[in-house]
Amino acid sequence: MSFQVENRVHKFWTLQSNMSKDRDEILEDETPAKSLDEGDIAILKTYGSGTYNNRIKAAEEDIRKKAKHVNEICGIKESDTGLSLPSQWDLVADKQLMQEDQPLQVARCTKIIDAGGDDAKYIINVKQIAKFVVGLGEKVASTDIEEGMRVGVDRTKYQIQIPLPPKIDPTVTMMTVEEKPDVTYKEVGGSKEQIEKLREVVELPLLHPERFVNLGIDPPKGVLLYGPPGTGKTLLARAVANRTDACFIRVIGSELVQKYVGEGARMVRELFQMARSKKACIIFFDEVDAVGGARFDDGAGGDNEVQRTMLELINQLDGFDPRGNIKVLMATNRPDTLDPALLRPGRLDRKIEFGLPDLEGRTTIFQIHARSMNCDRNIRFELLSRLCPNSTGADIRSVCTEAGMFAIRARRKTVTEKDYLDAIQKVIKSYAKFSATPKYMVYN
Ligand SMILES: Nc1ncnc2c1ncn2[C@@H]1O[C@H](COP(=O)(O)OP(=O)(O)O)[C@@H](O)[C@H]1O
Ligand SMILES: [Mg+2]
Repeated sequence: MSFQVENRVHKFWTLQSNMSKDRDEILEDETPAKSLDEGDIAILKTYGSGTYNNRIKAAEEDIRKKAKHVNEICGIKESDTGLSLPSQWDLVADKQLMQEDQPLQVARCTKIIDAGGDDAKYIINVKQIAKFVVGLGEKVASTDIEEGMRVGVDRTKYQIQIPLPPKIDPTVTMMTVEEKPDVTYKEVGGSKEQIEKLREVVELPLLHPERFVNLGIDPPKGVLLYGPPGTGKTLLARAVANRTDACFIRVIGSELVQKYVGEGARMVRELFQMARSKKACIIFFDEVDAVGGARFDDGAGGDNEVQRTMLELINQLDGFDPRGNIKVLMATNRPDTLDPALLRPGRLDRKIEFGLPDLEGRTTIFQIHARSMNCDRNIRFELLSRLCPNSTGADIRSVCTEAGMFAIRARRKTVTEKDYLDAIQKVIKSYAKFSATPKYMVYN
């Protein structure tokens, strides 16, 4: 191919150089080449492009083909199935592994005979099959197995192969907060006192347990956060979760209300069981009035399932088992409806009221929410907070959002003080009839 090209180029050059010569001579030289054939036209087209263009193109094509071939030979990892390269498959070894590692069966070790001795025997109970007296497998030490433990046994000799953790409902396991929320104490405006009180209960016993031991008192175990809606109870709990290294479990009261009798109580039990297995743990019950309502007779004769859940909660709070390093936070906006038994000291020692923020608090809340907004520089936040008396943190946040909306509507890039004033007029003055705060003030 390349030879052909060179040949044509040569022909072309001779054509050009011959132009200057006599016409007759040309006729004598090459008789048939009067008109340009297709090949010549192609050459003319390449006039001006580099000499090696074609060769480079050919080389590139070659490389592409080779790469494709290499991929074909070693096999590409399939993105759908996630299989590894077929060349790396080791079917024989896999088969062997499967034969060695039989699936284990779950059993419960009910009793240990001759515990501590060399030939200790274990009574296991395989559900719906039978009870066996068995020994240990090779890989387990006798110290790993305790009475009442869940164990994995093989299917032929029923030897204990592996100790298993206690069974916990996946819905309960899901309540653990893995990802830390991005709220810090700095983002909670006002409520200095409340933050102080909460940190005292939650952080001090975890950081300096010796102080309590020296004094000989038990640290407070539970905190109830109460106050009108939108005053930052959930927000503060999120800030606690952000700061702590302890395991944080978040339960929403209504999650504990289940369809079948006894399910809710079981969930509470498993919740505390899981919490006890951690080194330190904080459990936060949000909207606890869903389960913690005062007991009453509903007149229908039966007993109320929700009440049973709450009784289990009470039982777990101070119950028979030692509570370990578990702190319990609860939040509600109807503390008057809670059962008195739940509130007694020893279960929830501290009760922290979240009131309406004062002038200074409101100013800080304004500044916190305006920090992320594109505002004019000299906005008088104190004036603004003077204009919204009796409003909660959530109200102020809504004012900031509305002010932004006004700016968007006017197609401006920054928010001015006038926007804030309009927003206050809109949110605080005209939405006043939706506010739950006055009603809350009446309840308490
Ligand atoms: N003290 C506060 N500082 C800053 N923002 C607040 C404050 N109180 C409430 N907010 C705002 O109001 C929103 C709702 O508050 P939240 O804590 O969920 O109320 P509740 O007390 O009903 O649980 C929060 O996401 C936050 O933006
Ligand atoms: Mg809340």
